[in-house]
Amino acid sequence: MGLWDKRDDMVVHEVDPYNAEPPRSALAQGVLTPADSFYSRNHGPIPLVDGHTWRLTVDGLVEHELSLSLAELQQRFEPRTLVATLQCAGNRRAGLIAVRDIPGEHPWGPGATSTAEWTGVALADVLAAAGMGSDAQHVAFAAPDVSELTDPAQPYGGSIGVRKAFGVEVLLAWAMNGQPLPPAHGAPVRVVVPGYIGARSVKWVDRVTAQRGPSDNYFQTTAYRLLPAQADPDVAGPGGGLSLGSVALNADFLRPDDDATVTAGPTEVTGYAFAGDERGIARVDVSVDGGHSWVQADLDEQVSPWAWRHWCTTLDLPVGDVEVTARAWDTSAAAQPESPEHLWNPKGYVNNSWAHIHLTVR
Ligand code: MTE
Repeated sequence: MGLWDKRDDMVVHEVDPYNAEPPRSALAQGVLTPADSFYSRNHGPIPLVDGHTWRLTVDGLVEHELSLSLAELQQRFEPRTLVATLQCAGNRRAGLIAVRDIPGEHPWGPGATSTAEWTGVALADVLAAAGMGSDAQHVAFAAPDVSELTDPAQPYGGSIGVRKAFGVEVLLAWAMNGQPLPPAHGAPVRVVVPGYIGARSVKWVDRVTAQRGPSDNYFQTTAYRLLPAQADPDVAGPGGGLSLGSVALNADFLRPDDDATVTAGPTEVTGYAFAGDERGIARVDVSVDGGHSWVQADLDEQVSPWAWRHWCTTLDLPVGDVEVTARAWDTSAAAQPESPEHLWNPKGYVNNSWAHIHLTVR
């Protein structure tokens, strides 16, 4: 067993704060990712929060402030369960680093994304019980883990707009795949914002605040923003670039692994595809000639509007070195862009360019 009850073949980008992604093959096991294989992205040391003394404060532009224990949260509101994929905005950053270095950022491969069945209550129900005012435009989340990335060090936080906050899919969740959340995933309670970049799914949440503007937390104002390629992130300051919310259409391979050796003849190739919010996966194309011609992969069942779709196809591979390419299309008819070169940005977010694996066929 690896750190934080993870499988021991996790690709660990950093031990403390713990940042790790599963190998592709672990994500290929099924639509749901077991907790021991789920990627983990942390900006500060993982806090051990006692669920017996934990309370959630709901304040700001509300008629009555709430202070809820875990038992009160669980008993007072209707429990909801849904399957949702989390995807870090830095997923597949390694493809951008291959274009040009991105100092200080982890070279995430395709595994900074995973899917679980989450159980909790709708944030909307809790906000309604607090009597959220019509002047509130954003809902901010605060957590106790402190990140040294900021000067001075700052606890983690973020926010979402009220329209998203009132979607019944946004959960205050205490369970993952039917088990209490493990510490690395936000025990006792985390926010799950399906369809949005993982950064908004604030772990160990202890305060929900209805407010006029977005959160002024560093991870909302400064990090997780898409800067123009020529911008200097050290001088960009708060509010620069685009704030990231809805997850861009993306896809990658799960099997075989990149640089695997396979036997000539029919070879099954599988992967995942995901698009945030209202967009579903409509098609996945696979090519063995660099995108001159494509075959359409079979899409697995869509288990939830908020979950990725796994896909597979069988390719008849000739002996030699083969580069296999994949690209997904979403239900708005958008396709992944071909090249990471045009997507490069100084913090290395949202690499959703075509996916490639290299195979040695014998
Ligand atoms: N919440 C807190 N409190 N602290 C964090 O560092 N990281 C965010 C988000 N929530 C983070 C957090 C980021 S960037 C991502 S991608 C997801 O958690 C990752 O969730 P996971 O570690 O459960 O996979």
